[in-house]
Amino acid sequence: MKAIRIHQFGGPEVLTPEEISTPKPGPSEVLVQVYAAGINPVDAKTRAGKALYQDTRPFPFIPGWDVSGVVVEKGEKVDRFDIGDEVFGMVRFPEIGAAYAEFVAAPQEDLARKPANLDHIETAALPLVSLTAWQALFDAANLSRGQTVLIHAAAGGVGHIAVQLAKSVGASVCGTASELHRDFLLELGVDTFIDYRKTRFEEVVKDADMVLDTMGGKIRDRSWQVLKPGGILVSLRSASFGNEPETYKVRAKSILAHPDAEQLTQLSNLVESHVVYPHIFQIFPLDEAAAAHRLLEQGHSEGKIVLSV
Ligand SMILES: NC(=O)c1ccc[n+]([C@@H]2O[C@H](COP(=O)([O-])OP(=O)(O)OC[C@H]3O[C@@H](n4cnc5c(N)ncnc54)[C@H](OP(=O)(O)O)[C@@H]3O)[C@@H](O)[C@H]2O)c1
Repeated sequence: MKAIRIHQFGGPEVLTPEEISTPKPGPSEVLVQVYAAGINPVDAKTRAGKALYQDTRPFPFIPGWDVSGVVVEKGEKVDRFDIGDEVFGMVRFPEIGAAYAEFVAAPQEDLARKPANLDHIETAALPLVSLTAWQALFDAANLSRGQTVLIHAAAGGVGHIAVQLAKSVGASVCGTASELHRDFLLELGVDTFIDYRKTRFEEVVKDADMVLDTMGGKIRDRSWQVLKPGGILVSLRSASFGNEPETYKVRAKSILAHPDAEQLTQLSNLVESHVVYPHIFQIFPLDEAAAAHRLLEQGHSEGKIVLSV
């Protein structure tokens, strides 16, 4: 099969298209013919040797976690899927996912049925960002109707799904992005759009119940003050909080997304009910994974970048 492999950490040029043998599914795994693989910032951090769990990745390895495709083979213990099923998921995150390939052997518990109303490209955009948004908003923060959430980088991969999920439970959403993404975010339902290049968000947002910290650093430092006492900042970045939670009488959690077939199924249902929709920024062929990473690393995606396999 064709796959992209990494033989050493480095820039996008280390993403090498190669012909290698097709993996064999284990007893509880299915072999998925991959039609599309989603790209995430963690793919680029992993490629560059800057992600967590680097030492669990012996060279060469196939990067990527998000897939959408069709089951073509299954292990003897697989009871959730049959040959021919269309599936999607975040495979083995944060271990080696091996999604940038024509075939991937995936544990059945990492997969769910593909939403019927999306194609494979759109579906491959969903898993990691949707699971992250779900686990941040609902598992970590218990966001509910009438609450207010500030979502940083609201037009990005995680952000644009988080906006839709927050609106789906009746929360009020403040979202930061540059002017370029204003119409996109207003269409998604953002109540208060903040152009971060012109306006300091802390001058607009007060008494929020939650901040979704996609940015870390100085943006996180400035975010504590927008929370009401008892509010929560959920970070997708480092877990090293200082004294701010005590100072501001708020809570702080850092999360790492994990595979969850039940949540993927609920997300799929929301997609089929037209409550959530993934937005595709750009599509690249598998061979051009390096170009896809270059675009991702510019840091200004509106929605998702996806590889067509
Ligand atoms: N812990 C976890 O499990 C987990 C899971 C998923 C993601 N993450 C992390 O979360 C971060 C976001 O991921 P992602 O997939 O959403 O990234 P992404 O799609 O690449 O984010 C791109 C977006 O960031 C926006 N942005 C850049 N600078 C900004 C600023 N100063 N203020 C507001 N928005 C800004 C851009 O808007 P403009 O074009 O307007 O600049 C763009 O829309 C990454 O660091 C990723 O590694 C962690």
